[in-house]
Amino acid sequence: MCGIVGYIGKSEKKEILLDGLQELEYRGYDSAGIAIIENKQLKNFKAVGKLQNLREKTKDYTSQGFGVAIGHTRWATHGKPTELNAHPHMGAYSFVVHNGIIENYQELKEELQAEGIEFLSQTDTETIVHLFEKNYNINNNSWKSFQQTIERLEGAYATLLITEAQADTIFFAKNGSPMLIGFDGEDIYFASSDTPIIGRAKEVYYLEDGEFGYVKDGEVKLFDANGIKTFTKQPLPTDKALAQKDGYRFFMEKEIYEQTQVMNDTMMGRVLDDRIYFEELDEKLFENIDSIKICACGTSYHSALAGSYLLERMAKIPCQVEIASEFRYKEPLLNDKTLFITISQSGETADTLEALKMAKRAGLKSLSICNVDNSSIVRESDSAILTRAGIEKGVASTKAFATQTMVLWMLTLYVAQAKKTITQDTLNRELEAMRHTPKALLVDDKLHSKLTRLSKRYLHGHGFFFIGRDLFFPLALEGALKLKEISYLHAEGYPAGEMKHGPIALADAELFTVALMPKTIHYDKIKSNVEELCARDATVLAISPDYFELSDDFIQTKYDTHPMLEFFEMMVITQLLALEISIRLGNDVDMPKNLAKSVTVE
Ligand code: F6R
Repeated sequence: MCGIVGYIGKSEKKEILLDGLQELEYRGYDSAGIAIIENKQLKNFKAVGKLQNLREKTKDYTSQGFGVAIGHTRWATHGKPTELNAHPHMGAYSFVVHNGIIENYQELKEELQAEGIEFLSQTDTETIVHLFEKNYNINNNSWKSFQQTIERLEGAYATLLITEAQADTIFFAKNGSPMLIGFDGEDIYFASSDTPIIGRAKEVYYLEDGEFGYVKDGEVKLFDANGIKTFTKQPLPTDKALAQKDGYRFFMEKEIYEQTQVMNDTMMGRVLDDRIYFEELDEKLFENIDSIKICACGTSYHSALAGSYLLERMAKIPCQVEIASEFRYKEPLLNDKTLFITISQSGETADTLEALKMAKRAGLKSLSICNVDNSSIVRESDSAILTRAGIEKGVASTKAFATQTMVLWMLTLYVAQAKKTITQDTLNRELEAMRHTPKALLVDDKLHSKLTRLSKRYLHGHGFFFIGRDLFFPLALEGALKLKEISYLHAEGYPAGEMKHGPIALADAELFTVALMPKTIHYDKIKSNVEELCARDATVLAISPDYFELSDDFIQTKYDTHPMLEFFEMMVITQLLALEISIRLGNDVDMPKNLAKSVTVE
């Protein structure tokens, strides 16, 4: 995920920016850059790869005296990780850094290009600086030009702009992406999270969505749609490690809470009013394709399974899912009318990468769904859709799973609209549900405390079954995987209808069953399956919008009108349950024993 640092004051600016960006490294990035205006002189440096490369490029530069400075680490979303695409983006006399996605950038870009403005990068961000300069060239007033620029932006942004036209000022705006202002006397800092300014600033103000303004002469002028605002600073936390986790106990916990936010990024620019759009896909990708095969491992395999239900149901395209390590050695029969999809958080999983190479050798078209741009799997694929989950630090995957599943849902609708397998009314209903997803992912405090309380009842026993049907079977697999990875308790995911074909023999009070009982998919069927388990004295934790009186424990969900909203709401519950059980057992949630985040060996 991208990171922003800014500074206005008299101290050495290069080091403030580079040190600040270093503190944001843990979020992941693929290029970095800084821009400084001092004595009305603009300096700009960019480098691809690690910050060390940028340090190297700037080693002979020092900044002295009063000036303004902005810096950025970029996690590619629009366009490859190249120097041209790295921020700060440059106009004729101004620089901008930006986190988030400008949804209407294409429209703005076309408008600016029609007026003869040349773009150097493939990014959405560059439109901000050109729009600003276009306004300034007309009205000769930087503040007014900045306001006019912000008014035109749609989507999520946290942005800083500096300009030779007003070299003693930093302009800022925030909407949907985090940004804060740090204070230490006349020195004023900006950052996308606490860590870059801890140890430098003493107080902080966390900007709210819709706020914008400028800093000049050691003073912040803050505005929103209603005009100028007053604001209250608060003391800045001092613990960096805690700040990286934004106050959460573990990265996994932070990442569970983050899902609501990252889902907006995943959808941005792709979920339009009346259709799905993938800028990165060639419209011909599905030409001559009559089936899909998806290969992945672990959690990514589970999202693939969920996707296969959606693709067959709505896009009416046969879809087979295989575990990559099995696929590699089974001597699979492949034909070039199959689109080969790989799913991977890291983009480096050896088995998935090898499966992809095999498919390519067999002449199949390939598409990857991945969280890391420029990773081996992305580079190897003909096309790629980035999940935009941001860096995932917890070894147990959470937000990567959520965003992969969302991309598969979007891809389903993309194919369905192209093949006309669903009506516009159905498509509109799906899009409407999609827009609700961030809400379904919100963690409710009451729910979290209930799971914390419940978790103490589930620390022993001879195992867990997570059961579900249809789409909720892959979710059951994923719920069980989360629990076993971080609690080291035995857990299995099972299709609920299959229990009576064997596993029900295990049922007794010490067998814990987590039953996923959505209202919108086969509720009566799963209810009968759970009743069969209750009759054999299994201990049941039921998750459903409808009260289930036979269960020992019950968690009531809110959504009961769309399967995917039920899916995402229940997903969060299973993640939190695993987290709380693991914490009670005293385990290292973020680094479970024997596991690695990226499995680059067979
Ligand atoms: C589970 C988990 C693993 C990964 C698997 C594939 O929480 O993280 O099961 O999903 O190792 O990794 P990627 O998605 O990077 O290919």
